[in-house]
Amino acid sequence: MYLHQSQKNYFGEIKRRMKTINDYKEKILFDLSTLTPRKIVENLDKYIIGQDKAKKAVAIALRNRWRRQQVERSMQNDIIPNNIILIGPTGVGKTEIARRLANLTSSPFIKVEASKFTEVGYVGRDVESMVRELMDFSYNQVRNELSEMFREDGRQKAIERVLDILVPLQVKPNDPKKVEKEERFKRTREKVKEKLLKGELNDKVITVPVDEPTPQFEIIPSFGMENLDINFGEMISSMLPHRRERTREVIVEKAIEYFTEIEISKLTSRDIVVEEAKFRVENNGIIFIDEIDKIASLDKKSTSDVSKSGVQRDLLPIVEGSNVPTRYGMVNTTHILFIAAGAFHIAKPSDLIPELQGRFPIRVELNSLTKKDFEKILTIPENALIKQYTAMFKTEKVDLNFEQEAISEIANFSTIANEKMEDIGARRLHTILNAVLDDLLFRMPDAKIKKITIKKKDIVDKVLPLMEDEDLSKYIL
Ligand SMILES: Nc1ncnc2c1ncn2[C@@H]1O[C@H](COP(=O)(O)OP(=O)(O)OP(=O)(O)O)[C@@H](O)[C@H]1O
Ligand SMILES: [Mg+2]
Repeated sequence: MYLHQSQKNYFGEIKRRMKTINDYKEKILFDLSTLTPRKIVENLDKYIIGQDKAKKAVAIALRNRWRRQQVERSMQNDIIPNNIILIGPTGVGKTEIARRLANLTSSPFIKVEASKFTEVGYVGRDVESMVRELMDFSYNQVRNELSEMFREDGRQKAIERVLDILVPLQVKPNDPKKVEKEERFKRTREKVKEKLLKGELNDKVITVPVDEPTPQFEIIPSFGMENLDINFGEMISSMLPHRRERTREVIVEKAIEYFTEIEISKLTSRDIVVEEAKFRVENNGIIFIDEIDKIASLDKKSTSDVSKSGVQRDLLPIVEGSNVPTRYGMVNTTHILFIAAGAFHIAKPSDLIPELQGRFPIRVELNSLTKKDFEKILTIPENALIKQYTAMFKTEKVDLNFEQEAISEIANFSTIANEKMEDIGARRLHTILNAVLDDLLFRMPDAKIKKITIKKKDIVDKVLPLMEDEDLSKYIL
């Protein structure tokens, strides 16, 4: 590089970066501080109809995380999260609440299925992997955020590096005309830089060194198989020295992109990312354990149930608070919030081992959905089924409408089908609506189909015959 950074410059740079990172930490805390329980519920209301008790419980739990961080340090450690169990029949919004909560908070959040875990020592995924997964999530989240923050800096540095290649300094230290030559060189460099910034040199081909590891090639030792997301082909070819190219010809535009990524990864050094990621996991992390009823055991003697209690026992220390080794170092789980959910059709919360029950002090029941709820679910949420289908029809240039009575009728049939067969909650709306629309979905695009208004009669004509035929209803609805 033609300008050597003095030590002073270097420390100035570090200080500036640390300030940016501190500003950024404050911003995150500010974002959290604006997320009041009311606001959380308001946001969940956009997607989930009813289930007010559950929404309130998760909103309070989320807010309590922030509250804890505001109290005196000495007290912070004693405030443990109020882990929640959401109990309710299938298809009433348990998982949906978790999904929407995840989008809402900048806290690290993952959802796991309890039934996927096996006891330590058996083949399968051990319970600790959930903490590793949360840490991975957080690491990537922080890395992405910091990369965005430093993108402009990285680009500036990348441009200088491309200039180093385009306009190399060729002055010997003992050249008698050194000063004069350097002056000329600076002027040339400024001119070329101007052109570069205008994009005039974008297509020019230059030779860049490629032996610096690019961020994608970062190889990290991993514990569980689920972390093996490395492309082996790339890994191996990058390890074989004779296949490694030392330089590559690329156009200036690509070279800037390439150097930008490299400079960003230098700016967002691993320890800074790990430190922040770990802080977030330990203080704001949320793990949603779905299908927890699947690891509750009814019969303590049957072997499958013995292994279920094994998973529960493995889960205990994690929920209680312990140190879990991850590829980023030990992560303490004491303040991670756990939200569990289950239908508890057969097993009851009391079938969980008592110690675990004690770790989930807050129990919230979700209600079965009524016909009125169904009508709302069809139309109100931002991702409501009818909105989805209307948008899909529009891609075929068809204007799809439902009369209010038709919507009531879909809700009505859904309620009846849930009573007559199994109660699958709001998932029934999918099957009924699909039965109503599949004919049209198949025929489109069709020049003759431009505007469709679904009336009550259309619903009855399509759905009633299916309902009346027991076999058909079993398979189709
Ligand atoms: N209260 C609700 N408001 C809006 N949509 C809902 C509601 N309940 C369920 N749904 C919709 O129904 C579908 C299934 O819901 P969800 O996945 O939350 O079920 P669940 O309660 O987790 O059931 P399970 O016990 O089977 O896991 C989702 O697509 C969701 O959009
Ligand atoms: Mg679910």
